[in-house]
Amino acid sequence: LHSAQLLITCLLLCTFSSCLSSKPNFVIFFADDLGFGDLSCYGHPTSLTPNLDLLAAKGLRFTDFYSTSPVCSPSRASLLTGRYQTRSGVYPGVFYPGSIGGLPLNETTIAEVLKPLGYATAAVGKWHLGIGSNGMFLPTKQGFDEYLGVPYSHDQGPCHNLTCFPPDVKCYGVCDVGVVTVPLIHNENIKQQPVNFLELEKAYSDFATRFITTSAKNKQPFFLYYPAHHTHYPQYAGSDAAGRSLRGPFGDALLELDNTVGNVMATLQKTGVINNTLVLFTSDNGPELMRMSRGGNSGLLKCGKGTTYDGGMREPAIAYWQGFIEPGVTHEMASTLDIFPTIASLAGAKLPPVMLDGFDMTDILFKQGKSKREAMMFYPIDPNEKYGLFAVRLGKFKAHFYTQGASHSASTPDHDCPGSASFVGHDPPLMFNLEADPSERYPISLKDRPDVQAVLEQIRTIKAQFEATMVFGESQISKGSNPNLEPCCNPDCSPKPSCCHC
Ligand SMILES: *[C@@H]1O[C@H](CO)[C@@H](O)[C@H](O)[C@H]1NC(C)=O
Ligand SMILES: *[C@@H]1O[C@H](CO)[C@@H](O)[C@H](O)[C@H]1NC(C)=O
Ligand SMILES: *[C@@H]1O[C@H](CO)[C@@H](O)[C@H](O)[C@H]1NC(C)=O
Repeated sequence: LHSAQLLITCLLLCTFSSCLSSKPNFVIFFADDLGFGDLSCYGHPTSLTPNLDLLAAKGLRFTDFYSTSPVCSPSRASLLTGRYQTRSGVYPGVFYPGSIGGLPLNETTIAEVLKPLGYATAAVGKWHLGIGSNGMFLPTKQGFDEYLGVPYSHDQGPCHNLTCFPPDVKCYGVCDVGVVTVPLIHNENIKQQPVNFLELEKAYSDFATRFITTSAKNKQPFFLYYPAHHTHYPQYAGSDAAGRSLRGPFGDALLELDNTVGNVMATLQKTGVINNTLVLFTSDNGPELMRMSRGGNSGLLKCGKGTTYDGGMREPAIAYWQGFIEPGVTHEMASTLDIFPTIASLAGAKLPPVMLDGFDMTDILFKQGKSKREAMMFYPIDPNEKYGLFAVRLGKFKAHFYTQGASHSASTPDHDCPGSASFVGHDPPLMFNLEADPSERYPISLKDRPDVQAVLEQIRTIKAQFEATMVFGESQISKGSNPNLEPCCNPDCSPKPSCCHC
């Protein structure tokens, strides 16, 4: 039987998970600060992303896929837990090298629901959900058997003397000073400090392909979570990608990520597990427009990183499963929140007894069906209970109750994007029809529009119901930082942080 026919037979006879001959494997690529308009398959004219384009051509490409936050840490927390960051306390902003808090250990990650089913689990790349005292928040404490990576953003340490491109092109800008240089961590141990950017992507790619090969050889189902550093500032790339795109440093960094996607796909093929693996690709938040031509691009969407306009949170997203997902494009609304319940459903995993914000996407993926997601909620970088949601999307309409620019989105001609665009409440909310006006340019006047007024009433009801269920977890990021918690390969050295260099 052809696998597509097999699938249809399966869906008629039983639940998806019970009819696969073995547990499916899962690979998630999570790009960093990559915008809606950055991939060639999303219309960028000079990006070189042949492997992602192939994934999109043979898989399902989403046009209306959202992350839950316009910045990194909260977005990652939501993907791994299927819950808005406000519940887990991963707000406001992001974790720092010496952060005291982290993703709380009583939150359940995708890796933790797969482990009891016999999965091998690995994380590789940018963690950014805390390190804490004795590495208590590292991936190995959150359901992952193995980890290799820089545990936060690679600009969260001085970078002005580091090499970002061969032969010895220094990284652009200075990054964060006054903290340790960025370390490369294997499981809980520092392998290198500062990290060698020219060899980093190759180390990640090798780690990922070795993990797949080993799992396949052991006939063990696996979950590979690959949150990339690419294409976050400062961009870097080794010799296989440097200078090879037409788009400059950003394009080269993106090409290097695309190469890894190609290596992983080739390994899935070679090890014979390609027909049993769901591959997902998306990004954590919108592009950092303040980096100008070195930053990403939100395409026709408004503003970028740091804002609750669509440019800050609508992301490129691709789902690929050879033989099971029909090639195509979907306009159904979906989110990183939906990955957790989708994977749990496919694997036959038990959901944790907590409030989940995601919806099973299997109908969208396998049946060209409708999304179970009715609405998407938009929280700013620094959510609080007083203001609550900044915006809500229901169907094609989005209502902004509050708007605010962000320094991350500076430098475009749109005056609503930069940090100087101060916090404003809108009553009635600013309403846009995202199907007719994806750029959120033309607010709809409610006057003489009873139809839109009715939608707004519905949005208000959904917002009130949602906020009534929202219990803000204790803020993990407001617990602050302790310089002694910064990872140092030479813990007893002095003076810190500059002596943390091995
Ligand atoms: C985790 O523990 C904290 C502190 O006790 C509690 O407030 C929170 O509700 C717990 N979260 C979950 C998901 O159980
Ligand atoms: C960076 O390099 C310059 C020139 O080589 C040197 O003067 C400076 O002290 C270095 N800075 C750091 C933080 O290492
Ligand atoms: C995957 O399925 C296709 C179509 O059924 C088949 O031609 C191919 O050999 C399979 N590949 C592997 C590695 O099993």
